[in-house]
Amino acid sequence: MTDPTALARRFPPGFLFGTATAAYQIEGGHDADGKGPSIWDAFCRQPGAISTGETGDVACDHYHRWREDVALLRDLGCNAYRLSISWPRVVPSGSGAVNEAGLAFYDRLIDELLKNGIRPFVTLYHWDLPQALQDRGGWTVPETVTAFGRYADAVARRLGDRVHDWMTLNEPEVVAFAGHWVGVHAPGVRDFKTAVNVSHHLLLAHRNAGDALRAANRDARVGIALNLSPADPATDSPADAEAAERMDGYLNRWFLDPLFGRGYPKDMLELYRPYFDRGAELDRYDGRLDFLGVNYYARRVVRAGGGPLRGDRVDPEGEHTAIGWEVHPASFRKLLGRVHRDYAPRHMFVTENGAAYDDEVRDDRVDDPARVAFLARHFDAAAEAIAEGVPLRGYFIWTLMDNFEWSHGTSKRFGIVHTDYATQRRRVKTSGEWYRRLIAAHRDARATASPAPRAVRT
Ligand code: FCB
Repeated sequence: MTDPTALARRFPPGFLFGTATAAYQIEGGHDADGKGPSIWDAFCRQPGAISTGETGDVACDHYHRWREDVALLRDLGCNAYRLSISWPRVVPSGSGAVNEAGLAFYDRLIDELLKNGIRPFVTLYHWDLPQALQDRGGWTVPETVTAFGRYADAVARRLGDRVHDWMTLNEPEVVAFAGHWVGVHAPGVRDFKTAVNVSHHLLLAHRNAGDALRAANRDARVGIALNLSPADPATDSPADAEAAERMDGYLNRWFLDPLFGRGYPKDMLELYRPYFDRGAELDRYDGRLDFLGVNYYARRVVRAGGGPLRGDRVDPEGEHTAIGWEVHPASFRKLLGRVHRDYAPRHMFVTENGAAYDDEVRDDRVDDPARVAFLARHFDAAAEAIAEGVPLRGYFIWTLMDNFEWSHGTSKRFGIVHTDYATQRRRVKTSGEWYRRLIAAHRDARATASPAPRAVRT
């Protein structure tokens, strides 16, 4: 199963093999060259918000080590890379003047990627809202939606001649609900009504940014990265089945339906009635996606219960990663097939998939067989989905290197490259070597599969 050569043959020519990162998780340079504070800079300073008490002030210091990190990608053989842009680095106050030094950083990074044959996939919002906008209401107010469009325009004008693949938002469900309902992410609000309204503004922001990207560059391809999971009932009772349907509505359909032009799902509008009455605003909404990015980590198992969703999450027995998430590759295949069947996006990418394990450096090496197995099983599931007709064009492993894992600080390691935070030394893990072999085998299989050039008669 983990044999990369056999696996490689199951991915079509032109398939993209990449890794994904996010600005706040790797860059550091939190106040460098005119960058403004983000809500994560502020949130990390709230006592208890981050389990380790850390901040992302330095993280992987990618802001200063980007050249070395691009070299790592090249050495792994990646032909694509998903990165995010820090909004407060580009527009420190969120809606005012553009910070030239901030844009210049991404300009250099994109050039370096292209020089190394790596196609950039750029996310505009991976959670680091300018704090100045938060101070004026953040995603709860329409001004932020407008500001996002202007920021997208500034980025597109500067990078759009070289970047063609864009994701407006990363995981709007997490932004809205982890940030404004559960409160475990910035800005740390705990109110369901606020969260639902934020999710609505995020969808409007997606469209604003998409319009701006396309207006600036006719050949822009606009996507979004959604965290999606099948929702399974804990038992075969009808009540649990209904709870699973609500979970599916909350997590998947609430975003997919409007993005694919169907408006909000009726059952969810009904359920959210005490919290939300603006569903009609999306009646003619269409997310106009050129591609859909799927972030997948685990399925959800639920039973009937309490709270606004009238359900509780159940932690199934079985295999789990070091962050406590179930390992369930069969759900990955099921998810990809379902999205294709029910929504038919033209192109799909796995924009995140990966696993946290408690890796250790021994004899200067980091051997992570559990991650190799995790990745092999999930790539296998993706290959199955492709064989079933899912238009999957690429796969971005989360993540290039161990980094600042939000409320867990640096305690959870997801990288295929190990980060030694004391020295900033990067060490390619066994999983990174495995990925390198997979990518090389894919390249070689294609080279031998293509017809030999004909001899030219003279
Ligand atoms: C996703 C996030 C990403 C990372 C992984 C583990 O939800 O998009 O930044 O934290 O989880």
